[in-house]
Amino acid sequence: MLNLFFPKKTTVIVGLEIGTAKVAAVVGEVTDGGGVNVIGIGQCPSRGVRKGEVVNAEHAAEDVRNAIVEAEKSADVEIASVYLGVTGGHLTSLNTHGVFTSVSLDHEISQQDVNEVLANAKVFNRPSENYVLHSVRQHFTVNGQAGIVDPIGMLGENLEVDMHVIHGVTTRLQNHMRVVAGLNLEVEQTVFSGLCSALALLDNEQKHIGALVVDIGAGTTEYVIYAEGVIKHTGVIAVGGDHVTNDLSYGLRMAPARAALLMREHGAATLDGVADQTLTLTSENGFPDRRVDLHDLRRIMVARLEETFQLIDSEIGELGFHDQLRAGVCLCGGGARIRGIEKLAGNVFGLPATLGRANAVGGLRSASDDPELATAVGLVKYGAMRQKGNQSTGLVGKIKGFAGSLGLF
Ligand SMILES: Nc1ncnc2c1ncn2[C@@H]1O[C@H](COP(=O)(O)OP(=O)(O)OP(=O)(O)O)[C@@H](O)[C@H]1O
Ligand SMILES: [Mg+2]
Repeated sequence: MLNLFFPKKTTVIVGLEIGTAKVAAVVGEVTDGGGVNVIGIGQCPSRGVRKGEVVNAEHAAEDVRNAIVEAEKSADVEIASVYLGVTGGHLTSLNTHGVFTSVSLDHEISQQDVNEVLANAKVFNRPSENYVLHSVRQHFTVNGQAGIVDPIGMLGENLEVDMHVIHGVTTRLQNHMRVVAGLNLEVEQTVFSGLCSALALLDNEQKHIGALVVDIGAGTTEYVIYAEGVIKHTGVIAVGGDHVTNDLSYGLRMAPARAALLMREHGAATLDGVADQTLTLTSENGFPDRRVDLHDLRRIMVARLEETFQLIDSEIGELGFHDQLRAGVCLCGGGARIRGIEKLAGNVFGLPATLGRANAVGGLRSASDDPELATAVGLVKYGAMRQKGNQSTGLVGKIKGFAGSLGLF
């Protein structure tokens, strides 16, 4: 983008998350074996985003520029285009069903039939101001035989398909894209951030035996369920680490900045071993001396985090997904750094919970180690799979493009 230090031009894939706490740009290249190597990372504190959505385009643009420039320097490449993560409480997901019936009993299913059944599954009620961000096919059913991945060439008069659809308010999605377009960067595709995080963390086995990925960010918490190799369910709650900080700020009567610091240094998602412990916060950075009861601090944190997990848990319980999650829960996002968070998640979901690491990603270590980079790393993986035309994620190649179709470019 900026031609700093005459960077060399190479074919790279860039994942960009314009998050509530930070903007992250991850630069990857596809290895000969088809894997992803992360060769550069750029990050910048984010000032123009609330609850995952752009609220100050000018600040957001500056922060994106800084992250991109740092990523360019770090990878020694010139960045011209990005895969862009999007999220927000306005996103809605649902599973739809499409049906196609042929007149002949021994009909051989063709590509055209598949196109028709997919088109049929895409007909559903949604607000007119909403845009369909993703329509990801799950499985086909041919004459009652379910779980079919590719029905072309099979015989059958009844072809059905199940599809996972994510849609959101067009203008709110456009805000993200306009920030990027304003910097003369092309948006290759917009992808729901939660899907990217799941793509970063889960291996094929986990996707098949069933896993829940929860990305706890600063302003949003995204969750994605994979099972039987396909995306079963997705969602967003507009609550994240910022809300924990806010609760601490009110509950302990201190400035949010101090509460955030306190959470990082002494916070945990457990009440184990904190009875009667008091912290003495010395006056620094303009904050006066303070004594804080550690039990109060942790109790406030646990309450908010537990409530957030419970909201997700009751939704997946209602949808009947609990029994399908044999690989348990994988946590990521900056919130996964909270001590004891996996134990709390394990208790609420009644499933084994672990801190997720990016799977099958080489190169810079922090790309696989840093939980807050999961979305941007997943965007790179998504781009790499799209380049290869790989359909195995149940995601790539089946998502409708967004960039360009809104008349932005
Ligand atoms: N060491 C830590 N201890 C406790 N919490 C932490 C720590 N590091 C980060 N966090 C939490 O993680 C949050 C940032 O996470 P992340 O970088 O994933 O957010 P984001 O992607 O910018 O936001 P969003 O996805 O919601 O738009 C912070 O707001 C903070 O609450
Ligand atoms: Mg995030």
